[in-house]
Amino acid sequence: MARLSDIYAIPPDGSVHPVPQNFDVNFNWDYDDGRAAMMGLYRKGVEMQWNADSRIDWTQELDEDNPEQLPEEMLPISGMAQYEAMSRREKATVRRHFQGWQISQFMQGEQGALICAAKIVTQVPDIDSKFYASTQVIDEARHVESYKRLLEKFRVAYPMTAPLQELIDQVLRDSRWDMTYLGMQVVIEGLALAAFQQIRDHAQNPLAAAVNAYVMQDESRHVAFGRLALRDFYPTLTQAERDEREAFLLEACYLMRDRFDAVEVWRTLGLDPVKCAEHMYDSGFMAQFRSTLFSRIVPIVKDIGLWGKTIRDGYETMGIIGYADTDVQALQDADDGIAKEFDARRTYVESVAARAAAA
Ligand SMILES: [Fe+2]
Ligand SMILES: [Fe+2]
Repeated sequence: MARLSDIYAIPPDGSVHPVPQNFDVNFNWDYDDGRAAMMGLYRKGVEMQWNADSRIDWTQELDEDNPEQLPEEMLPISGMAQYEAMSRREKATVRRHFQGWQISQFMQGEQGALICAAKIVTQVPDIDSKFYASTQVIDEARHVESYKRLLEKFRVAYPMTAPLQELIDQVLRDSRWDMTYLGMQVVIEGLALAAFQQIRDHAQNPLAAAVNAYVMQDESRHVAFGRLALRDFYPTLTQAERDEREAFLLEACYLMRDRFDAVEVWRTLGLDPVKCAEHMYDSGFMAQFRSTLFSRIVPIVKDIGLWGKTIRDGYETMGIIGYADTDVQALQDADDGIAKEFDARRTYVESVAARAAAA
């Protein structure tokens, strides 16, 4: 198996990336008043732990020409003249790099989530939130592990893309505990769910689809945690304080819509990054991605009470205010149900194989 450090297309900028911190960690001596909903989520987090080593069948391989076996229209530069003129082999390289870049962003972003969840444990004042967030820490470690193992099979990896690093750094530098939640549990988890969903629902490759289905089952719990914690907190702030958070959310939505354009891939492959980014922006892939992204984020923003004029006007201008009515609970239930279907399929395949071996 390839070592990750040997397959980076662009070397990461040093092996350690420090983010200076300036905030209080909080003890809490009040052990009695855990909120029922939060303690229920904590219990679920404990009971639903899984082991990436055994739940996923790592003997499965990716496809040589199209690792995740995705429909061609999900490659954001498909249809572009320069891409269409390529040989079969060159096209296979583009697919491997773009898909590997995406999985790299998942793996690197998951490390960001791991660090943010650990920060929440130390910083948040409520003991029930500390309990729940501690289950998320191990979830995120498992996600880093799962994507790392998947990525090794691509034989190519990329460092964290600059816009994602900037967003995570901003969230980590902020000394207010709710900003870590808002940035990570609402914005970045929402982004992750949208990106994972595209692969879970469209990859014909069973390994790639299963990894994303299982990670999503955990992520939907993480978003629920953010909702619970923030829904109680934001009504206690002043309008000016809420306005500041709404402005942050708007900026983050623009960033996610416009700046995750995979320039590192296009540059590495000798393609014109500006032309590729332009093509990508207008592609069916991006249209679908944006729709999934905002259906995951906008209803949560409304639900946690950051629904003042700033955000409503901003979302109106972006044309995404209609997503506010998405049924988030239905999405979460579906994420859970689909992961269970993957488990059932594996059990079935193994039982058929065992019967055949015994016959
Ligand atoms: Fe995660
Ligand atoms: Fe997460």
